[in-house]
Amino acid sequence: MRELPNSPKRADTFQEKDGVEVVIAPNAGACFGVVRAIKLGHQAAKRSKEEAVQAFGPLVHNPRSIQELESKGVEIVEDPDEIRNGTVILRSHGVKQEVEAEFKRRGVKIVDATCPLVKKPQRIASSLGQKDYFLVLVGNSEHPEVKGVLSYFGRPDYLVTYQPKDLERIPATAKVAILAQTTIEFKVLDEIYKSAQARFREVVLYNTICDATSVRQEEATTLAQKADVMVVVGGKNSSNTTKLVKICKGYQPLTYWIEDIAEVNPQWFKGKKKIGVTGGASTPQEYVDEVGTHIARLIESDPELMVLPPNLTPLEEAYGTD
Ligand code: F3S
Repeated sequence: MRELPNSPKRADTFQEKDGVEVVIAPNAGACFGVVRAIKLGHQAAKRSKEEAVQAFGPLVHNPRSIQELESKGVEIVEDPDEIRNGTVILRSHGVKQEVEAEFKRRGVKIVDATCPLVKKPQRIASSLGQKDYFLVLVGNSEHPEVKGVLSYFGRPDYLVTYQPKDLERIPATAKVAILAQTTIEFKVLDEIYKSAQARFREVVLYNTICDATSVRQEEATTLAQKADVMVVVGGKNSSNTTKLVKICKGYQPLTYWIEDIAEVNPQWFKGKKKIGVTGGASTPQEYVDEVGTHIARLIESDPELMVLPPNLTPLEEAYGTD
């Protein structure tokens, strides 16, 4: 009997069975920090009838979650000068400490949705700022988390980079402390650490990479190695989703990045047996599951997309098309 994918499974890998398999990576979707931020956002939204409830920047890097919060009365504001009263929600990536201090000075109530795992590099940077270390922050200098962490360091002797060769810009006599943006790949941090050890007399490494990210990256690697096609669900502005897409593409060039279920194209699955689905740590798990179920239903409802087990023959071939 032809196997239908009807309910996609969350699993490490494919079962290698006949017919189509839609497999969702076990932990695909929102990490605890994002779940917490969205929950705090919805709680704060309840006050929006009595006072302004604003989020400073997107609370999480997922447009659909943001739209839901906006529909409940949360206003997303990019300019901190527009936040003068009521309640402000600080995003999961954290904000610069001077911005938070200014909100407090204005008497704005703060709902701090900064992920506890982002607070950790903030605290370490603050303590390093009191010592004579040159700070190397491995990450993206434009990312809000990185800007926030640097504000806690509070000094100009730092470098933000992904490239070991950039270490040449630091005086060879420096004592170096290395911190990581929570969402970077461990291999990038390790390369910089090893290069720094070869160049400087003292190097201290703080591995502040979040497990949630590495777990999703490892699971995406396992699935993408076996998949005929991969679908990654997550915001185009999400750093960790960008990395998942890059990893999946490295193993399976037929990797598609979508923010929303409406972007799924049935033709991606034509003749494919193993369909892998994953989602960035900023994408609620239910969105990822919805996409998996949607793909399975598409395949079920369109026989042209079905792959036949080797022991079955298409009807036209068996009986002719007359
Ligand atoms: Fe926090 Fe890690 Fe998520 S840092 S926001 S739990 S990816």
